[in-house]
Amino acid sequence: MASRWLFPFLLCLPVLGKDEIETHGSSLPTRSSEDSFPLTSKQYRTAFHFQPPENWLNDPNGPVLHNGVYHIFYQYNPYSAEWANITWGHSISSDLVNWTPLPIALWPSEPFDIHGCWSGSATILSGGTPTILYTGIDLNGNSVQNIAFPKNPSDPFLREWVKPHYNPVMVPDGFNATQFRDPATGWMGKDGLWRTVVCAEDFERRAWILLYRSEDFVHWTRAEKPLFRTKTSTMVECVDFFPVSVKGKNGLDTSTMDSEEVKHVLKFGLFDYLHDYYLIGKYLDDEDEFVPENISGDDHRSWPRYDYGSFYASKSFFDAEKKRRISWAWVNESDTIPDDVAKGWAGVLIVPRTVWLGEDGKILQQWPVKELESLRRDLVEIKEVEINEGEVFSVLVNNPSQADVEVEFELSELEQAQLINSKWHLDDAQTACNELGASVPGAIGPFGLLVLASHDLEEHTAIFFRVFRTPNGHAVLMCSDQRRLHRYHLPEIFLYEGNYIHIP
Ligand SMILES: *[C@@H]1O[C@H](CO)[C@@H](O)[C@H](O)[C@H]1NC(C)=O
Ligand SMILES: *[C@@H]1O[C@H](CO)[C@@H](O)[C@H](O)[C@H]1NC(C)=O
Ligand SMILES: *[C@@H]1O[C@H](CO)[C@@H](O)[C@H](O)[C@H]1NC(C)=O
Ligand SMILES: *[C@@H]1O[C@H](CO)[C@@H](O)[C@H](O)[C@H]1NC(C)=O
Repeated sequence: MASRWLFPFLLCLPVLGKDEIETHGSSLPTRSSEDSFPLTSKQYRTAFHFQPPENWLNDPNGPVLHNGVYHIFYQYNPYSAEWANITWGHSISSDLVNWTPLPIALWPSEPFDIHGCWSGSATILSGGTPTILYTGIDLNGNSVQNIAFPKNPSDPFLREWVKPHYNPVMVPDGFNATQFRDPATGWMGKDGLWRTVVCAEDFERRAWILLYRSEDFVHWTRAEKPLFRTKTSTMVECVDFFPVSVKGKNGLDTSTMDSEEVKHVLKFGLFDYLHDYYLIGKYLDDEDEFVPENISGDDHRSWPRYDYGSFYASKSFFDAEKKRRISWAWVNESDTIPDDVAKGWAGVLIVPRTVWLGEDGKILQQWPVKELESLRRDLVEIKEVEINEGEVFSVLVNNPSQADVEVEFELSELEQAQLINSKWHLDDAQTACNELGASVPGAIGPFGLLVLASHDLEEHTAIFFRVFRTPNGHAVLMCSDQRRLHRYHLPEIFLYEGNYIHIP
């Protein structure tokens, strides 16, 4: 069963943003596992992904475009690289690529947020002023929802935020007071009332997505019916609720209402699994009801994942200038706490991605924003390499730790592809990736890339593919294997992640 793969290869190294200039030498040695960079090397700072200059980052909060400036806020510990002392860090950009850090936007200071300023969202009010809804951990350790406004709305960078004395604006009555968080971006119904949703858990440990309405965005009343509830999960987090167009890739303003041309996405993270899931459905504006499409019962295992890998707490916003919806998420790097402390930082954000509804109306599609291509330089282009089974083709580059890779695989034939069986179920790529791994031979695959590889291949991350026949065509299983990622991470982690790409 000899397979041959022909592939043209494109590899680009990033142009370094001004904040990263210190972080990269120009001709660094190739890695070998005996001679890795020290953990604290600036080599490991990112050039493509957002990260603050130092310390701990988790969830992205309140992304928004205001007067031509992109804002990203994030859960941030200003004192160290551990999760503690949570504030809202703040950075701005004109291109989603080069970011300038600003002073902290929200920090614990009042009885309604003295133990932490946790996740939330930004909403642009009717006059054009952005406002923040966020979770405060109050004096008693309970969760409440608070509001904050720019101190000076005409400051182009929105540097300072004020928290009115009348906070909190929502309290957890009837729900577990420590399990009530992450208010979503608001939207306005046809009746002129604002809505938002907040995640909560009841005393039977079941998840609710509570709906609130308000005339003025300040006084909120909980609707009797939640937007969604489920018996299949405990607490959910970081709800995101937004419309998508059934025609084309353009994004929609969050207040775009029910019509033939619009579906809605309800996204949330399952706290027990630390994965983001989503449902596509119709939002019936008159009844404030979200009707998910085609879910087989109340079972989270049948819900699509928003993405695989280290990806959580995603949050989107509408870019009204470029008519696109952009999604951010947190990448938890899985270093140990002592390693994070030694590095002086922990956590990055995914590269911002445009998100839209796929043509089949069933799954979301995502792609890095076009602006990221401006980071490409030092192109290494390799054309039409023929690789036989068992062969490794090496591409050596100057700066081996960061690259933007485009690769096209041309398979000599698909006929011999194995028929997918129920064990490697199409809805459960994770199991298939786990069972088959990177070394079990198949009819077509595994083939792919070994990235961040040392000379002797002792260390590497495998990103690999397998092609299966399905009743309707073919499916490509995409997996990554991070078990040989880095000696500092061994031996604790054992990580396979996967996804299927369907080819009709
Ligand atoms: C939290 O903040 C306090 C100062 O308010 C500091 O002493 C402490 O070290 C911080 N903890 C962490 C883990 O960053
Ligand atoms: C609230 O949730 C927390 C975290 O799951 C749990 O420890 C606590 O027992 C719950 N409280 C009540 C009253 O159910
Ligand atoms: C939902 O299921 C129905 C019946 O199987 C089908 O006709 C429809 O196309 C499906 N819709 C989506 C969006 O999958
Ligand atoms: C982040 O990674 C650490 C280390 O692997 C793990 O213990 C923790 O559960 C992860 N947290 C989330 C939210 O993914």
